[in-house]
Amino acid sequence: MSAAAATGGKPAKGGGGHGPRHVAIIMDGNGRWAKRRHLPRVLGHQRGVEAVRRTVRAGAELGLSALTLYAFSTENWRRPEDEVSALMGLLKHFILSDLEEFARNNIRLKVIGDVSVFAPDILALIDHALQRTAGNTGMIMVVALNYGSQDEIARAARAAAAKGDITAETIAAELDTADLPPLDLLIRTSGEVRLSNFLMWQAAYAEMLFLDVLWPDFGRDHLEEAIAEFVRRERRFGGR
Ligand code: FPP
Repeated sequence: MSAAAATGGKPAKGGGGHGPRHVAIIMDGNGRWAKRRHLPRVLGHQRGVEAVRRTVRAGAELGLSALTLYAFSTENWRRPEDEVSALMGLLKHFILSDLEEFARNNIRLKVIGDVSVFAPDILALIDHALQRTAGNTGMIMVVALNYGSQDEIARAARAAAAKGDITAETIAAELDTADLPPLDLLIRTSGEVRLSNFLMWQAAYAEMLFLDVLWPDFGRDHLEEAIAEFVRRERRFGGR
């Protein structure tokens, strides 16, 4: 059982003032970013990919152990077909164009969610990216694809039941995130205050930050400020 599973995902306390190891982001606001500029939604998503690039670089430089990004939810299939295929195209392009940089920078890729439904060409690309970075020991970039927390918990509960014992610990040990450090900080951009079926189990003890910035405008400064806010909150917590 992983350390996270053993504690039910509760982060280690003590000391106070330490930065988050695992940060997750709900990257919201691409559509509104484009709409405000009278641009097509897909341009908002394109600029969203640039924000992903900036944020992954910054996360690695700032010493995060894991950065989890909500790229495509189980509900996103309900979007118009052309938007879904644009998002798939961006994902493919992102893997093709950025994989080598991430690999060189010791970043390991991990995917959470049920990717079995993706087209064979995307699955092959994902597999290649996972293998290419499997030996890396730096930050883990976790991409949530066809991910939904309820689906993940149901899958984990089935796996735990198949092994004969359903407890919080046995379910946690079967979650897609079981091998990651506990989630410390969850950020959502765009001003919406919802979890939208993202990491609901893992967020049990996470600090949450809802930022009034649209995802395409997010960058290193926002991540640094979010980490600083986490450290301030941790210090209050550690004083009790
Ligand atoms: C939310 O904006 C964003 C998404 C549904 C997709 C996020 C995807 C990316 C940033 C690009 C692909 C990711 C990778 C890792 C290459 P929205 O469209 O819901 O915005 P709105 O609420 O303003 O309409």
